[in-house]
Amino acid sequence: MNGAVNEPQWHVVGSVGDIDDEDVMRFDLGDATYAVYNTSQGYFATDGMCTHEESHLADGFVEGDIIECSYHLGRFHIPTGQARDAPAIVDLATYPVKVEGGKIYIGLPRRGSGGGA
Ligand code: FES
Repeated sequence: MNGAVNEPQWHVVGSVGDIDDEDVMRFDLGDATYAVYNTSQGYFATDGMCTHEESHLADGFVEGDIIECSYHLGRFHIPTGQARDAPAIVDLATYPVKVEGGKIYIGLPRRGSGGGA
């Protein structure tokens, strides 16, 4: 129980097999939403909303290491979050992912302890 302060907080997203190859799954935590990807390069996670407008990237299409937003077809590089094709011009935040014991985990920044209601 002595986790380092800058160690991410790991949250279970699902089980291996819950995300098909070349697919993406939405993961919500509190009022935040994330997108978790299963690519040929492994699992990755980014913010869940497109940086262009309000569209869930989990509704988009994974092609290799690219996610294409379903709304206006903006494209991002999944491993780095880099915006690759207009109208997406602002990069996505990315988060670490690990697989342990058949579970997929996303590593999110720790919130300050004792946050109020
Ligand atoms: S909302 Fe994603 S490209 Fe416009």
